[in-house]
Amino acid sequence: MTSVLTRALHLCLAVLALAAGLASAAHAQDKNAIDMPKPVLAATPPMGWNSWNHFNCGIDEAKIRAQADAMVASGMKAAGYQYIVIDDCWQVSRDAAGNIVADPEKFPSGIKALADYIHSKGLKFGIYSDAGLKTCGGRPGSMGHEYQDAATYAQWGVDYLKYDWCNTGTADAQSAYALMARALREAGQTYHHDILFSMCEWGTAKPWLWASGVGHIWRTTGDISDAWIKNEKSKPWENGMLDILDQQVGLESFAGPNHWNDPDMLEVGNGGMTDDEYRAHFSLWAMLAAPLISGNDLSTMSKATTDILTNADVIAVDQDALGVEGHRAVKDGDYEVWVRPLAGGDRAVILLNRSGDAHPMSVDWATLGMAAGEKADVRDLWSKAVSKSVKGSYSATVPSHAVVMVRVTPKA
Ligand code: GLA
Repeated sequence: MTSVLTRALHLCLAVLALAAGLASAAHAQDKNAIDMPKPVLAATPPMGWNSWNHFNCGIDEAKIRAQADAMVASGMKAAGYQYIVIDDCWQVSRDAAGNIVADPEKFPSGIKALADYIHSKGLKFGIYSDAGLKTCGGRPGSMGHEYQDAATYAQWGVDYLKYDWCNTGTADAQSAYALMARALREAGQTYHHDILFSMCEWGTAKPWLWASGVGHIWRTTGDISDAWIKNEKSKPWENGMLDILDQQVGLESFAGPNHWNDPDMLEVGNGGMTDDEYRAHFSLWAMLAAPLISGNDLSTMSKATTDILTNADVIAVDQDALGVEGHRAVKDGDYEVWVRPLAGGDRAVILLNRSGDAHPMSVDWATLGMAAGEKADVRDLWSKAVSKSVKGSYSATVPSHAVVMVRVTPKA
């Protein structure tokens, strides 16, 4: 009898402990719960331009307007690019009421006028801030001013906020990003102007595990640099393009419509890589369902750069409606096969040759989840050559530091 009572008591205690645990877990979640839905602003990964990779802090309103003009004139707008985003160093101080103040020398017409100009071109406007007291460039951050800044942005007509993670001290990333997400959503409702939330936390607190309800995109790594792999010119926090690629392996399942992994902005056209390497960079970012945020000077870019950034077939892979991020299916030393399932049953495939020599490569149908006897048309997304009714596998010689990217369409 005693033992029955003891067991019953233990059971009660266990149930109580479980209930307490669940309650505290719920409480922990509450702390970061955002009781307003995230606006759907990124059903497919956002496309645009950002000032940082090319201009760093050297920005002013004339340069930003010129980028908006060039986005239209170059055909990038027609290809799907939408956002013009000013990164760090537009802000200098706060006024007596705590309102953020733009640099009056660099932006004499004010940020609202710049937003209006960009909107007049049929484009959208993005801005940058930081969850800490100061931005990475030492300008005023949003810590303690989250609601005030969100309201200012909405009144200016800001459509996109990139929110960085410098100078945050002991702040908790999950709470800090939830706080700004809430502020943006409230401002969006008050001013009828929704703002896409781009989280730039560098992957330190693994945002893919908790941010799908918070931001539309989240950075997964430290900064990209204009290099195939990290070199002696790269700063300690910078990565080469392939270093970033390697860090995406395993994160695929966390991305989807309205919540994407962000392997950082594009370096295409900035001069540190060959055109083959830039074609590889652009192809791989499309494979990753990455935001396509160009980072070069659009007003002076070469035809080769324009052709890369506006390749409609590669962009269509990035923007595919199924929203499934591609993954590395084969790694054989320097030779890799990447695969992305697409809406309607097509597959995007990249044969990546990281080595110093050209190399024959192939992908077999089993890797694509297809029967060996199945016929498919294979379209090379760069050369545009089509191979009809291919069976079993597809082979190509891939130049050094380059990709072959194809779209495989199984025949009905
Ligand atoms: C960090 C970010 C970069 C850029 C700079 C600006 O390094 O990761 O993308 O915004 O700050 O200072």
